[in-house]
Amino acid sequence: MNAPGTVIWLTGLSGVGKSTIARLLAAELDRQGVPTEVLDGDEVRAALSTELGFAKRDRDTQVRRVGYLAGLLARHGVTVVVALISPYREARDAMRARLAPFLEVHVRAPLEDLIDRDPKGLYRRALAGEISGFTGISDPYEAPLHPDLVIDTDRCTPDAAVARLLALLRAPADTD
Ligand code: PPS
Repeated sequence: MNAPGTVIWLTGLSGVGKSTIARLLAAELDRQGVPTEVLDGDEVRAALSTELGFAKRDRDTQVRRVGYLAGLLARHGVTVVVALISPYREARDAMRARLAPFLEVHVRAPLEDLIDRDPKGLYRRALAGEISGFTGISDPYEAPLHPDLVIDTDRCTPDAAVARLLALLRAPADTD
């Protein structure tokens, strides 16, 4: 049996850059010959979670589904990069308790920057009251208390973020 793959769990607000970093990291790991998969919130919702909305119960279900998939893959030696808002600490902590090795990475930027960037126009719609329960605007985001890594995307390019993640993967125990 292969050694289990690492689950790298990117948590953070919508539009902060989780998917971009996850894709770049996976491409680099693939290039290095490391079997890798990305589990992205939007994609999992489109494929497997079409009935879920954004109430706490639904978000927790989404986290559990993604964690389950991540566990299956990791068990066979696949490195799994998860890109999920996963706003509730308790749900993320449950994943940490179940999956090992597990690295929790907080991808963050000031809310004003996210409102300015707003590539999908979701913040504009949330601020206009057209989307209810939008994370960071009208729904909570509980930041990790003890993340393995924090990436500030207002101060760090995607390439630099990937370099930090690769360093963390090489020596996770040294970077606490
Ligand atoms: S969660 O909270 O972990 O279940 O969310 P996730 O599965 O990662 O899905 C997040 C994407 O859903 C879109 N979206 C919303 N996000 C937050 N709150 C509300 N109300 C909402 N409605 C739609 C949004 O495009 C998120 O995509 P990302 O990739 O995070 O920007």
